[in-house]
Amino acid sequence: MANTLVIKSSILGDNSVSSSMADAYVATAKAKAPADSITIRDLGTAPLPHLRGDVLGQMRSGASELSAQASEGKKALAELLAADTLVLAVPMYNFSVPSGLKAWFDHVLHPGQTFEYTAAGPRGLLQGKKAIVLISSAGDYSAAPASGMDFVEPYVRTIMGFMGITDVTVIKAEGAAMGEVGVAKKTAAFAAIAAL
Ligand SMILES: Cc1cc2nc3c(=O)[nH]c(=O)nc-3n(C[C@H](O)[C@H](O)[C@H](O)COP(=O)(O)O)c2cc1C
Repeated sequence: MANTLVIKSSILGDNSVSSSMADAYVATAKAKAPADSITIRDLGTAPLPHLRGDVLGQMRSGASELSAQASEGKKALAELLAADTLVLAVPMYNFSVPSGLKAWFDHVLHPGQTFEYTAAGPRGLLQGKKAIVLISSAGDYSAAPASGMDFVEPYVRTIMGFMGITDVTVIKAEGAAMGEVGVAKKTAAFAAIAAL
């Protein structure tokens, strides 16, 4: 039985484009493989707080007595380690990812768990997992010069690669604020999700 982890990060709840892309993915995946397990973590409605030093220390110490935040961070990490497929639903906020998703990255990128440093440099420990990244934005960053302002896709790809996830599919609904261009791109994005 395959295990999928869906991470939503929009603050807009039911009005979110990226979260509805994630919902479309979940509907498709459930139709294809009803027995598979899907865990959904919505960082927009239930954000992990910014990582603090004491929480980081607890998460790395192996201590049995953990604060609520450290045990939630460990739970988030366990969800990622258990997943075969990671689905990230990511709205562009100020040219990058929402701070809630950054906080999740800060909790789950753990030396010895998701990556390690060797004499030859860093090595990702999540090899074999795949990632599907669903990005929404008001603007269209598909061509220069706007493409140089997109720090979402390169950043998320870098984080995935750092953890050893090289099978990364990116689907974008760009141009939400650009009238017909955005409508066409959104339609194409949902068609691409249905075809996964
Ligand atoms: C705080 C904030 C910052 C945003 N910054 C950008 C931006 O830098 N570029 C852009 O194209 N759209 C930006 N947007 C618009 C969103 O990317 C767009 O509405 C997208 O569809 C949001 O996805 P969501 O509906 O899943 O939240 C921003 C929206 C918010 C709320």
